[in-house]
Amino acid sequence: MASKNYKIAVIGGDGTGPEVVAEGLKVLKAASNKFGFKYETTMFDYGGDRYLKTGKTITPEEIEGLKKFDAIYLGAIGHPDVKPGILEQGILLATRFGLDQYINLRPVKLYKEEFTPVKNKQPKDIDFVVIRENSEGLYKGMGEFRDKGTKNEVAIQISYNTRKGVERCIRYAFDYCRKRNKAKKLTLCGKTNVLTFAWDLWQRTFDDVKKDYPDIQTDYAHVDATTMWFVKNPEWFDCIVTDNMFGDIITDLGAMIQGGMGIAAGGNINPQGVSMFEPIGGSAPKYTGKHVINPLAAICALGMLLETIGEDKAGKAVEAAVIKVATTKMKSLAAGKMGYSTEEVGDLVASNI
Ligand code: IPM
Ligand code: MN
Repeated sequence: MASKNYKIAVIGGDGTGPEVVAEGLKVLKAASNKFGFKYETTMFDYGGDRYLKTGKTITPEEIEGLKKFDAIYLGAIGHPDVKPGILEQGILLATRFGLDQYINLRPVKLYKEEFTPVKNKQPKDIDFVVIRENSEGLYKGMGEFRDKGTKNEVAIQISYNTRKGVERCIRYAFDYCRKRNKAKKLTLCGKTNVLTFAWDLWQRTFDDVKKDYPDIQTDYAHVDATTMWFVKNPEWFDCIVTDNMFGDIITDLGAMIQGGMGIAAGGNINPQGVSMFEPIGGSAPKYTGKHVINPLAAICALGMLLETIGEDKAGKAVEAAVIKVATTKMKSLAAGKMGYSTEEVGDLVASNI
């Protein structure tokens, strides 16, 4: 049977984005040779440099154009010469929303005890997945200023939560937890004691949906307590489902306990459409062009991409190669301290596929 020819859109983006994506593409080539699937990449220049030249972030037509791909591979968005918010909203969030990537999937997995700053925690203790709602909440951009610039100014920022939006996220989380088949436990992370509209809806929806998943154990944790337990008892978690803002915050902490931004990857998933995979660290401008940035996060994102498009074995092989290189070769996961250059780490992973 002829294998499928995957069409992959590549957005290197800003700062170190293009460098880490280049290493991911090396690994993609090695995986395709080993597992016999075909692919074709198309490069896009969306990012800060193009914005500074043309004033364009990403247009609705360009987002439409991304719909014909099987997946999108993204480096990083964020440029030191562009005011914060313009590129993030105009490119990253515009694409997440435009392609209705309503799940942000962020695995938190420790590969070696030495990589975590948390004392006495081993790889078996830090291994969970955060399922972050990725299309609503405080990210919706709803709100207003009143009496702007006066001493009576009021700024209102609305958290927008729909039953449909919350339910599709929670269902995805239950399905994911079942398929992961580990502790089979899903924790709802929220703030029911204060945010009594949004979290009432989340809690009721969670309680309704869980009836369809009697095999999954459920739990609830307030978001503030969740950050405490990430440090104190991360072994309590298997899968966590939460809203957009809380998910953003807790996954930065998650990245730290798994070894830092050099290893943390995520997927913006539309289960019925086109998904986009990215290292979750930013564009790291100060390391641009220095050959010191850790490409493993981008390579892990590539592994997630492969698993999602249906190349499960290739995705697992990428993760296994990352684990091997990270645990047996590298001195550290931090930029400049790896004991290897960015390119050498990419070569090592590719040769271990
Ligand atoms: C992330 C980032 C983005 C977010 C920013 C860059 C808009 O922090 O992917 O977590 O807040 O979602
Ligand atoms: Mn973030």
